[in-house]
Amino acid sequence: MASNAPEEMTPAEIESGYFNNNAPPKSLHKHEALARAFIDLHVEANRRVVLVTSGGTTVPLENQTVRFIDNFSAGTRGATSAEYFLEQGYAVIFFHRQYSLLPYSRHYSHSTNCFLDFMEEAAPSSTGSGDPDHGPIVVRSEYQDEMRDVLRKYRYAKRNNRLLLLPFTTISEYLFELRSLAQLMQPLKTNALFYLAAAVSDFFIPRDRMAEHKIQSSELPAHLLNKQGDNDASNNDETIDPEDIYTGGIEAQPPTHSKKLIIDLDPVPKFLHRLVDGWAPEGSMVVSFKLETDPNLLVYKAQTALKRYSHHLVIGNLLSTRKWEVVFVTPDAPYERWIRVPKSKRSKSLSGAEDQVGLAEIKKAEGESMATKADGQPSETALEGVEIESLIIPELVKLHSNMIAKHEGGKSQ
Ligand code: PMT
Repeated sequence: MASNAPEEMTPAEIESGYFNNNAPPKSLHKHEALARAFIDLHVEANRRVVLVTSGGTTVPLENQTVRFIDNFSAGTRGATSAEYFLEQGYAVIFFHRQYSLLPYSRHYSHSTNCFLDFMEEAAPSSTGSGDPDHGPIVVRSEYQDEMRDVLRKYRYAKRNNRLLLLPFTTISEYLFELRSLAQLMQPLKTNALFYLAAAVSDFFIPRDRMAEHKIQSSELPAHLLNKQGDNDASNNDETIDPEDIYTGGIEAQPPTHSKKLIIDLDPVPKFLHRLVDGWAPEGSMVVSFKLETDPNLLVYKAQTALKRYSHHLVIGNLLSTRKWEVVFVTPDAPYERWIRVPKSKRSKSLSGAEDQVGLAEIKKAEGESMATKADGQPSETALEGVEIESLIIPELVKLHSNMIAKHEGGKSQ
């Protein structure tokens, strides 16, 4: 029987096509067991649980992977948001790219705030120890208060089982585990929240077209060439309609000075439909993110995603301003609502472009900006460098509470 063209397939058919043709990750059963125990605990306590996805997924080019495609996401949004969810009493499943930023330890990461810079050897006189070479290591006095605060929150979350860390690396690991986690969250019902901040790859190489071994960059003698066409990343003879090829506006050019490696990628199936309409518990809240670089596209793309997947909220952000502003796009009024860190409270960012703040907001009549001063916004006397997640999460929790109340109200009628 001939199979349907992808555009004629139902979301359920696309789901079985993907999950039957790609291998589940080795960690799946272990992660499922950890998640099941964590979820049971919080169902018992009638506690809200948020699944935070964070960081970028990789796209391996070889089955025994030497090379892969990656993206920029460091996991700042996810790790920071997780802390504010914990502060709001949620239990957090932190489903993150391995080695990306983690809640709490992000404050002392290896690159921006190297943890070694926060420490020093205690002065010999203060320790009473006779041997200056074996005295204790302490946190420098100017960082004591801040680190104590972070340490207490971290220990509280650990001691009370409020935070479950589950790593992924590849797009396939992400998709298999996302499906399992969402299905395991079913007993949470309306107490479940999905906060999809990960930057998920849009293209991948299906298993049946992936080279087994490292793709060679120089000629091999004939007797060493792999007979199955391995290492030929473009061994697809079918003629492809040019309309079916994404070019990103750049036309393919013939090789000039040397050979080319042409990688043939398929689009990753859009599983948000299945998440909203099948995997996630009925009555749960689903929040996705939309990242753009062109201010003119952001709101339009966020609205389109909301219509397409019929979920509850799209949080739009621009690459260049994401630390200072986001837009909440909702199916109900006010439809488009901006949340901004006040100018005087913006953290410095080397990669950000502050002059682009406000550019993506759809312009209304003079004085009619849709930017909302979020409740609980820190006062002018608050510390410099307010994290935008400290404004996003309380607003989101209100929306989640409203959804739960509506659902409860609907049931009792
Ligand atoms: O990590 P940082 O450096 O702090 O950066 C944070 C961020 C910019 C990555 C984050 O704020 C963000 O915008 N994430 C979403 C990026 C994006 O545009 O994703 P998308 O358009 O490919 O997908 C839309 C949504 O569906 C996302 O919520 C994504 O997590 C989710 N998705 C997408 C595809 C897929 N197969 N599964 C998904 O769950």
